[in-house]
Amino acid sequence: MNGNVLVSGGLGYIGSHAATLLLEKGYDVVIVDNLSNSRKEILSGIEKITGKKPKVYFEDLKDPAVPEKIMKENDIKAVIHFAAYKAVGESMEKPLMYYENNLFSLINTLKASLNYGVKNFIFSSSCTVYGEPEELPVTEESPVVKAESPYGNTKKVAEDILTDLTNAEKSFNVISLRYFNPIGAHPTALIGELPLGVPNNLVPFITQTAYGIRKQLRVFGSDYNTPDGTPIRDYIDIMDLVEAHIVALERLFIGENESNFEVFNLGTGQGGSVLEVINAFEKATGVKLNYVITDRRPGDVEKIWADPTKANKVLGWKAKRSLEESLKTAWEWEKYYRQNLDV
Ligand code: UFG
Repeated sequence: MNGNVLVSGGLGYIGSHAATLLLEKGYDVVIVDNLSNSRKEILSGIEKITGKKPKVYFEDLKDPAVPEKIMKENDIKAVIHFAAYKAVGESMEKPLMYYENNLFSLINTLKASLNYGVKNFIFSSSCTVYGEPEELPVTEESPVVKAESPYGNTKKVAEDILTDLTNAEKSFNVISLRYFNPIGAHPTALIGELPLGVPNNLVPFITQTAYGIRKQLRVFGSDYNTPDGTPIRDYIDIMDLVEAHIVALERLFIGENESNFEVFNLGTGQGGSVLEVINAFEKATGVKLNYVITDRRPGDVEKIWADPTKANKVLGWKAKRSLEESLKTAWEWEKYYRQNLDV
């Protein structure tokens, strides 16, 4: 394919795995990343895995001149937009920082795309747009509800912006991918999730506890209305997740999209509880976890899992990897980066 794919946030957790897969599939990749929640070492991992050196801009999309410059200097054919802040709790404390970063970066990238005739855009959305769903599993038709955090609202507002834009610009094509809970790492263990500071998410907290970085894992509540009392999520392997991006991108390139704004749930269709994840980790790795059950974490949804039928049928994509497999790769990555990177 002639022309490049711009991967914003391409050194972040999902972006780095997507960039790697794109390079392996023969795409030319341009990364823009301001390193606000990522590290340069991830770039070495991408280069080691692929044997290729993507072009990288260490710049910030909040500056409208940045995407303009990138589009001017490269023949960009599509954008996969990952760049965003993602910590729910932090967004409650710093709402303006979240709106400014997540929405300005999006708007600036969209404006530059229009200015330079880029027609294909994939957006990183989240199951957070469904809130606490009334019916399970959630389909793309399930109601989008009022967001429970500024972070969640940036995803909802972003989808509104994309809806309005694609109504106005009929030749601009967007696919919004609503992720459930991405976990795991690249099978080589050369890239993975690299949380800065204390992790908010379950799996990095588990692997750090197993490694001895954290003393104890807290299970936030066991009095939910679920079989074992702990909340249920749809944990999807990072490699499955990024494979869906390639399929979505190809759908746009071929022009197979049925409308110029499409939405897909990316999940396995299987719910897993916090205790099930802990047990699966112990089984997959043979490492015992020190954990304690504590109070609920405010704002946590009780249970959510995807109905991925639309992505299965329309994209011809299906999550293949098991929970244990994902936890094993997450563990291999934790060990690798503790031993090999300066963190
Ligand atoms: N959990 C613990 N202990 C921890 C961390 C998490 O028990 O130390 C539990 C949570 O209570 C929850 C489950 O593990 O029940 C998953 O929590 P995560 O923080 O890993 O993920 P969330 O489902 O809360 O959040 C994820 C994304 C958000 C997104 C949200 C949408 O991280 O970006 O899904 O539902 F907004």
